Amino acid sequence: MNSGSSAMLAKAACLLLVLAVHMNESVASPSPKETDIEQRVTELLEQMTLAEKIGQMAQVNAGDSYIHDYLADGIRAGRVGSVLNAVDLDIINELQRIAVEESRLGIPLLVGRDVIHGFKTVMPIPLGQAATWNPDMLREGAHVAAYEAATTGINWTFAPMIDISRDPRWGRIAESLGEDPYLASVLGAAMVQGFQGDDLAAVGTIAATAKHFAGYGASESGRDYSTTNIPENELRNVYLRPFHAAVEAGVSSLMTSFSDLDGIPATASEFLLRQVLRDEWAFDGLVVSDWDSIRQLHIHGLTANDRESAVEAIRAGVDMEMHGDAYTNHLESLVESGKIDAGLIDQAAGNILRIKFRLGLFDRPYTDRAILPPIGSDHALATARRAALQSVVMLTNEHHVLPLDASKLKSVALIGPLADAPYEQLGTWIFDGDSSLSVTPRQAIETLVGNDVEVSHVRAMKTSRTRTTEGFDEAVEAATNADAVVLFLGEESILSGEAHSRADINLPGAQAELVERIRATGKPVVAVIQAGRPLTLTNIVDNVDAILFAWHPGTMGGPAIADLLFGIASPSGKLPATFPRMVGQVPIYYNQKNTGKPPTPDTIAYIDDIDARAPQLSLGMTAFHLDAGYTPLFPFGHGLSYASFEYENLRLSTTALELGESLTVSVELLNTSPIAAHEVVQLYVRDLVGNVTRPVKELKGFRRIYLEPEERVTVEFELHTDDLAFYGRNMELITEPGEFHVWVGSSSEAELMTEFRIVTAD
Ligand code: BGC
Repeated sequence: MNSGSSAMLAKAACLLLVLAVHMNESVASPSPKETDIEQRVTELLEQMTLAEKIGQMAQVNAGDSYIHDYLADGIRAGRVGSVLNAVDLDIINELQRIAVEESRLGIPLLVGRDVIHGFKTVMPIPLGQAATWNPDMLREGAHVAAYEAATTGINWTFAPMIDISRDPRWGRIAESLGEDPYLASVLGAAMVQGFQGDDLAAVGTIAATAKHFAGYGASESGRDYSTTNIPENELRNVYLRPFHAAVEAGVSSLMTSFSDLDGIPATASEFLLRQVLRDEWAFDGLVVSDWDSIRQLHIHGLTANDRESAVEAIRAGVDMEMHGDAYTNHLESLVESGKIDAGLIDQAAGNILRIKFRLGLFDRPYTDRAILPPIGSDHALATARRAALQSVVMLTNEHHVLPLDASKLKSVALIGPLADAPYEQLGTWIFDGDSSLSVTPRQAIETLVGNDVEVSHVRAMKTSRTRTTEGFDEAVEAATNADAVVLFLGEESILSGEAHSRADINLPGAQAELVERIRATGKPVVAVIQAGRPLTLTNIVDNVDAILFAWHPGTMGGPAIADLLFGIASPSGKLPATFPRMVGQVPIYYNQKNTGKPPTPDTIAYIDDIDARAPQLSLGMTAFHLDAGYTPLFPFGHGLSYASFEYENLRLSTTALELGESLTVSVELLNTSPIAAHEVVQLYVRDLVGNVTRPVKELKGFRRIYLEPEERVTVEFELHTDDLAFYGRNMELITEPGEFHVWVGSSSEAELMTEFRIVTAD
């Protein structure tokens, strides 16, 4: 039989499979569609040679300007299962055509790309999106990104990144959803749903990837790719939780981490990839390595060569190798020599084919741009604008300098390197972001105030890193001539992201000096900070009247910032990560353990008053720094509003419940101001005693609520005893009877508190 006719037969077999629909299936049984897919996977595997199965496991980097012969030949020969980094529709359709029409079995390609926080239309960086505390917002942002990417034939994104990030030095914190396992779980699952929709085979949805499995965010000192050491209990209670949530949300794939976890690089971790992922969580999707991370097992010093690396990775459970040739060069002979069980190859190839079937690629391998919404549509831009608006966190607002009153101001000076920087506002990981769609703060402010307010603009610094102060005189003059100053400070996009970690997280370059010079003019000064990470702002916080922290806000950052500055909308973002006073406090996060010597205001001393305080203190006998105390500059969950809110009457439906029961936590929230605004209501719990020590507070619920002026609402949360479960001493997920504290409020420093008990049934 020639290869053409066998391809046709295989395709016919795939298409003509007719399955009985079982009417009385239990809820746990796979759906008829899934049963169909499993049969198609099995049938196809039966027709594949060992080489073709291994071919499915190879992901090749495709250029975007032409199709190189190596790639075309490889696809034709069945040696390539996926490509990444092709983004031209014609090229992708041609690659699919070669796969479908010219390879023996006609298996279409997975086409992967880092669509991280938007495609052409860019949403705020993920850390900024996390500051919205709005799962619907993240779902919609991912949905827009998915359909824009799908217009070029991309069918698989390497997002969301849900690595818990507690180190702002780490450049990739920008890509993360912050420090908290619960927040990252809820928001990460929403992104998965946004990318994948209800039906992966529908037009405009793409497969998502939860990455990087696992522990990458704990890279030592925030140095990218660095070693991580995470005890299993911490791993399970903190780092793995968002991944489990993503798996429960149906994520199609997981990507392994580059990092070494307790001596075993994640790409070779049978514990992570088989025990936890497949056995405990029953994941049936696909596991892809990170870029060349299989061959890097040798560089890590785990293996002596690529052949051994292939053995480690396939045994661990890596299905597809991203850009590397350890699998391509070695798997076939490893199976033939009996070193690797052929069943492992079937499993891996099956996991890949399953996703291709779920995506509907066998039925619809080609992309027709015309059936998708256009790139940069009104809806996409409106979504990006709303996301940016909700992501901005007002850190301070002394004497209510904000909002600026356009009817009273005659002039405003916009000063700094990021007032009018269409590319920089997009942030890291925007391979395809279109900065020509960007609306900058300067443009938006000019449009908003029209002729009513005179707007001047002085860049003052060429980049955010500039150390010279050459432009400062001009800036001071503009400030002197204006009624108010808005400083546009922060980091350019290149200062965060992969391999862009910093050891010093102050505002870079001469920015602090610029702030001092502008402060000296005596004008009201507002700082709008765009950055890819929490920064240490201790040296500027008292030199400005207000700070809006805008992250890298994306395409529509300008209009969002303008609306907030001039009070068209109220800030409503809340910090998804703690802001330290100084970098030496890192790691500092709200859900820390109590320690045996918890600090209090009375038990700490500062370096400058040691002599005065020492006699009254057992100095140094609690967990604090002599030069920083023990509190952050801004806590997790913090974010101010133009409205003012009061929380009252925190109540529980019961103060004693048994395992398996729920209670309702309710609180009254009152907007005591004449300003309509959103508030993010946050629920925290402390489990006072555990068989392993428990955090001093844990986020267990949150709700973004819109309140009209003077409106009072009752907010309710259901808390089930399962929500209080944690991994205990034996790594079992348990909820223990005992006492709990509950707080509800506007940040992790909420003070309104009550208590309940979980009791054992007699
Ligand atoms: C990153 C991944 C990314 C991959 C492909 C790697 O360097 O760690 O997150 O998906 O490159 O671009």
